[in-house]
Amino acid sequence: MNHEHFQAIRSRFNRYVARFRGPDGAFPAMQALKRRHTAHVVADAGRVMAAEGWTLPQVLLGRTAALLHDIGRFSQYAEFGTFQDSASVNHAERGCAVMLQEGICDGLPEDDARIIFEAVRRHNGITLPPDTAADAARIAYVVRDADKLDIFRVMEEAVESGQLEHNPEITWNLQLTGGVSEPMLAALDAGHAINYRDVTTFCDFVMVQVSWLSGQLHYAASRRLARERRVLEYRERLVLARCDDPRVRRYFQRLSDLGGADA
Ligand SMILES: [Fe+2]
Repeated sequence: MNHEHFQAIRSRFNRYVARFRGPDGAFPAMQALKRRHTAHVVADAGRVMAAEGWTLPQVLLGRTAALLHDIGRFSQYAEFGTFQDSASVNHAERGCAVMLQEGICDGLPEDDARIIFEAVRRHNGITLPPDTAADAARIAYVVRDADKLDIFRVMEEAVESGQLEHNPEITWNLQLTGGVSEPMLAALDAGHAINYRDVTTFCDFVMVQVSWLSGQLHYAASRRLARERRVLEYRERLVLARCDDPRVRRYFQRLSDLGGADA
């Protein structure tokens, strides 16, 4: 894939997203949030790929997949008024359907299109299926890492700005009170993958993000960025201010003993 391919895809993406502008020409708040998220994910993917020393064609593929990873979010929100997949559609599958329907990847070499679809489809699963081809996995992992890195920022900004009170859909309309729930604590303690159905409070939501720091960031450069941004420390303060549970405290202690985002 080359620069011309990337530019063509970016134009199609921008034209598609522009359909979600409101009557005044501005993007509604939640669509604007996803546009901003997308731009940050592309930037973070770029940082990770640069640190990992990727070649230009690989970088272009990674940037394209990052640009398209949440293309399904726009129609999801327009149709259902939520970003919660379990209450609407799987936004990754929706994204692949939109890309096909809109011919977003038309003209790309077949292998590149396959890799991009795979990265979009797999960007939100708990893990990548073990049979994912190596060329697709490399790109899917950079999207998954950059996505998580920016989800950290989105939540922090929502907390700091007070936007969470106005747009609780950012954290799935979860109740803002209450501590870490029992099934979450059990999964964290056992080191098991978290079942998103067990996420019932804001603290649970934050703990899902914390659990990503333990084995869910694939590239060393991603883990370094998370450490530099003090992702773990921020969440520790946030959760412990809401629930001073010794088991939660111990969990954070264990993670920070391991060096924050695990090495
Ligand atoms: Fe997503």
